[in-house]
Formats: sequence, structure tokens, C-alpha cells
Amino acid sequence: MSTISTQHDSGEQIDYLELDQIIETDFHEDKENLIMILQAIQRRYNYLPKPALLYLSQKLSIPYSRIYEVSTFYSTFSLEPRGRNIISICTGTACHVRGAERAKEQIESTLNIKDGGTTEDQRYTLESVRCIGCCSLGPVIKINEDMHGRIKPDEIKKVLNQYE
Ligand code: FES
Repeated sequence: MSTISTQHDSGEQIDYLELDQIIETDFHEDKENLIMILQAIQRRYNYLPKPALLYLSQKLSIPYSRIYEVSTFYSTFSLEPRGRNIISICTGTACHVRGAERAKEQIESTLNIKDGGTTEDQRYTLESVRCIGCCSLGPVIKINEDMHGRIKPDEIKKVLNQYE
């Protein structure tokens, strides 16, 4: 396909040339690479935009229903637009006893969103997760790839402000 890009409902611009690059060049239009292609699309858009999945369905000759099924099976995939920064708050046992709930409430009130929500400016998405493997540092939040351990509610705002 030529350099066509379209804007869909969420305001996201879909660049089909870029999708071709992922599907054809990076993953050789191989159905076996479906999950890796979905991961690459999600890395690019932070979620899986429906027009990109429809296009993928055509390119790989896989029914859209099958792609949808795979996209909803794995919790790492999101079909809804997510923020530029993903805040994962650990609600595992060790973090829970060290005050994760208070930290979570502080994030929710600071950003005016609930667990699973995205701020209106698409700057942040908040997600609860189970143990992220550094229990001794609890309560822990992970923002994108950065870990913030022993986080105190009064430090939350300052930490969040580091992420545009
Ligand atoms: S319980 Fe939170 S990192 Fe393990």
C-alpha cells in the first residue's frame, strides 16, 4: 500500500506505510508471527487501534475475529487508547501490607482517574498489577520501564511530573 494514513475515532493517525514495514519487512507477512506483530503495533501506538487490526487481517488473510480473539486473550494487549505513560501499581501482598492502597488512592486523586483509566489528555494510564518482582521495595510503582520503590503518597505528584 502507498503512503496512506488515516485518522480514526481516538484521533490517532494510522500510518499504513509504517504498518507495512512492521508486517512485511520486520515479520515477513508470516501468520506465525501474529503475536509479535501485535506486540510491535502496540509498542507503536500504546494500544491496538481497530483500523490497524483490520488492515493486519487483510494483509495476513486471517479473519478479524481471530485477531480480535488473540488481542483480547492476552492481558498485555489493549484495544482501548492508553496514555503515553503507563503507571503500574503493584497490589501484591507485600506491597499491600506496605501501603500500596494509600499510594493508589493518591494517584487516583492526583490524576482524577480510577484503576484502569486514562487521563483526558492521554498523558497517563493507571493499571493495578500483581507482584512485579521487587517486593522488598514495596510499595512499588512502575512507570513505563522505571521502577519507583518505597513510594510514599506525598512523593507521588513529584514522581508523576517527571513524565510528559
Ligand atoms: S508484591 Fe509488590 S513487587 Fe512483589
